[in-house]
Amino acid sequence: MARMPVIAGNWKMHKTVEEARALAQAVRDGAAGVSHCRVVMAPPFTALFPVAEILRNTPVILAAQNVHWEPEGAFTGEISLPMLEEIGCGMAIVGHSERRQYFGETDATVNRRVRAILQSSLQPVICIGETLEEREAERHYDIITQQLAGGLDGLTRQSLLRIILAYEPVWAIGTGRTATPETAQEMHAFIRNRLSGMFGEGAQEVRILYGGSVKPENIAALMRQPDVDGALVGGACLEADSFLSIIHYNA
Ligand code: 13P
Repeated sequence: MARMPVIAGNWKMHKTVEEARALAQAVRDGAAGVSHCRVVMAPPFTALFPVAEILRNTPVILAAQNVHWEPEGAFTGEISLPMLEEIGCGMAIVGHSERRQYFGETDATVNRRVRAILQSSLQPVICIGETLEEREAERHYDIITQQLAGGLDGLTRQSLLRIILAYEPVWAIGTGRTATPETAQEMHAFIRNRLSGMFGEGAQEVRILYGGSVKPENIAALMRQPDVDGALVGGACLEADSFLSIIHYNA
């Protein structure tokens, strides 16, 4: 079965509610009729609800940038799956390198989030990726193997079909230094191979997105790679025009 590509915008800590409304409306309108890929937008928490209203009854999927594993409780600063389900969120990003780097996210906490998401109506978008130091020391395959083993620990073959992975080499995030299509393909094929080893044939169905300085100029070449099933876009998703040109990579 062909894997439906996913083009997702991670807004990170950008956009007030007013700015978010304008961007979401422009993307929704510009992506109307798109059927070659699924479009996803992940605004910051304050903008989730207003953007949910704008995306209601459209094929554009709303995503959160993080989520806690408990349904409620004394977890200051966190947000729960029932809260995201209530407003119509379809996905949640977990394990972004910025969460790992600045907020103490580990493979073990990523795994708790992933397992909780799989018990909800949402789909997890699980980020993995090595740092520059790790790549230069030629440890990138080990790091990815470790992140997959930890993050996906205890998942069933059945639940594998609901996850989306995002390979985001840390050295390519926000640096303008995109992985070449060949480097991305090499790692994506490695990831799929690891998934096959861990879970069997279902690995062929899992979408693996690339993230790290994706731009209108480099998206088409990345999407031509057989194991690149979409993109997780940071900086270039903050303007409707550039995000829309990425969405229309096949034009
Ligand atoms: P940039 O596209 O700004 O490099 O960010 C990538 C990213 O981290 C998406 O999650």
